[in-house]
Amino acid sequence: MDTKKTIIILGSSSGIGSRIIQYLPKNYEIILVYGSKKPDNFNKHKMIKLNFNKISNLEKGLKRIKIKNQKIIILNLASRKIDKLSNNISIKDLKETFNINTFAFLKIIQYFLPTMMKNKWGRVINFSSTGGAEGEIGTLLYTSSKNASHSMVKVMSKEFAQFDITFNTINLGNFNTGLYKKLDLRKRNKIIEKIPSKKTGDFKDIYNAINFLIQTPYATGSVVNVDGGYTAK
Ligand SMILES: NC(=O)c1ccc[n+]([C@@H]2O[C@H](COP(=O)([O-])OP(=O)(O)OC[C@H]3O[C@@H](n4cnc5c(N)ncnc54)[C@H](OP(=O)(O)O)[C@@H]3O)[C@@H](O)[C@H]2O)c1
Repeated sequence: MDTKKTIIILGSSSGIGSRIIQYLPKNYEIILVYGSKKPDNFNKHKMIKLNFNKISNLEKGLKRIKIKNQKIIILNLASRKIDKLSNNISIKDLKETFNINTFAFLKIIQYFLPTMMKNKWGRVINFSSTGGAEGEIGTLLYTSSKNASHSMVKVMSKEFAQFDITFNTINLGNFNTGLYKKLDLRKRNKIIEKIPSKKTGDFKDIYNAINFLIQTPYATGSVVNVDGGYTAK
């Protein structure tokens, strides 16, 4: 039986995505899904361009993904973060954020679920942030869409556990990429002060959490915080 794995990375061009690809096992078939920026330096992998904001076109794009192996892993790093106070949010902001952070994610899972069920194996890992989950000021769009996708993960973990298909969320703290990297030194130091481990995360730690969830069928419906103790209660 073919036990090799295919990993589909949604949002592979993200700051985090482009840093974790290097840690993936060499025997994985890697499929990189991106929105507008083709990931650099990974030409040996299959790449698929898909606009998550165009939900009705997604299925057509997904048909271009041809998978060799029976074991499918989906990592969802695609994300839209518009910071606005709640009174300034438009319906367009809501639609765009939910299309990218929530609806496209569900649509893509629905597309691969029949194959995962047939093969009695699947791993779905969604990424969110510890800051976002806390609901900080100005993050209504990001927080509500990420929490909605986390709720979907919880429900699906129960619906498909009998098929050895697991659904989990990894909540990330601060890593030296994306929005954090754009902050000035004073703001970055202020954040570091609040993190018990007094540093940003190592990208290898993210891969270790991913690997744990891939290798552990009994871990489903869980939230793994990789945040240096930021949200420890
Ligand atoms: N960076 C951090 O420290 C941090 C902290 C906490 C949580 N996280 C979580 O980790 C994940 C990655 O974060 P990041 O900061 O590395 O992200 P990022 O650099 O902002 O990248 C966002 C990703 O989403 C994709 N995307 C956006 N709009 C899209 C669209 N319309 N269609 C298809 N793809 C689209 C982008 O693709 P294109 O650029 O190709 O369009 C890109 O790959 C997110 O889920 C985020 O919530 C990150």
